[in-house]
Amino acid sequence: MNQPLFLGIIGNPIGHSLSPLIHNRWLGKTGRGGIYLPFKIPPARLKAFVRKARRQKMDGFNVTIPHKETILPLMNSVSREAKAIGAVNTVIRKGKNLTGENTDWQGYLAAYHSRFKKPLAGKTVVVLGAGGSSRAILYALCREKVGLVIVANRTVAKAEKLVGAFNPLFPKIPKKALPLKLSLLKPFLKRCDLLINTTSVGLNATRFHPSPIPLLSRKAIVSDLVYNPLLTPLLKEARKRGHPILPGLPMLIYQAAFSFRLWCKT
Ligand code: ATR
Repeated sequence: MNQPLFLGIIGNPIGHSLSPLIHNRWLGKTGRGGIYLPFKIPPARLKAFVRKARRQKMDGFNVTIPHKETILPLMNSVSREAKAIGAVNTVIRKGKNLTGENTDWQGYLAAYHSRFKKPLAGKTVVVLGAGGSSRAILYALCREKVGLVIVANRTVAKAEKLVGAFNPLFPKIPKKALPLKLSLLKPFLKRCDLLINTTSVGLNATRFHPSPIPLLSRKAIVSDLVYNPLLTPLLKEARKRGHPILPGLPMLIYQAAFSFRLWCKT
């Protein structure tokens, strides 16, 4: 018989996370049983937490801001995907070994494909932001063999670094880094098939000034990783103008499902 699972999530802050709600429900609904707890862990306590997770035989845990990158060297092994993305969002324990995985990129693709039938291969995509979430999105897009991806960031050096890091991994996928300036983005927004916001703009109803939406062609899909509010000002504006939209919540739920599946295999 399967043992109940001891799971959790670490981050700082962690109070806002929906993951305990999602996973505790699945633990109950699937009959697997167990518990998923939130742990507020400041950076200085990360190493100690990882040691304790091994000792106390946690079956696994999720990792969120600010630990996704810094936890990599504390793992016994890291999946090919998490290594390429440079971030771990899921840890699985087998015996004394902790493996770092990344399910964010799969979560995005599952959310996209559950909503849209159009394949991403060959498409032009504009990604706003070059932080941790952007890395997972860029990986997902490259795996799908998009035709061109533009990474636009307020700090252009970060976009350049990200594109530079992905060039050797996916040399055949054309990529371009740009500052987050609409005058420079205009020609790409005009022809893009998909616009993805990975920045924190939209959180608590903050918005882009000026908005990129009026520069898009009507057929472009608009996607936002922010899920609080469920419909960000960017998505509301896009919907009003007739664009198909993809909110952030489905990605959150799919990445959780991929993590849950990994833990259930233990
Ligand atoms: P995450 O892991 O969620 O991606 P992150 O790594 O802190 O978080 O990245 C946050 C992203 O949001 C960055 O691309 C950041 O731009 P900078 O690199 O220039 O800081 C972007 N961001 C945050 N606030 C922003 C704002 N007001 N306008 C535009 N971009 C913003």
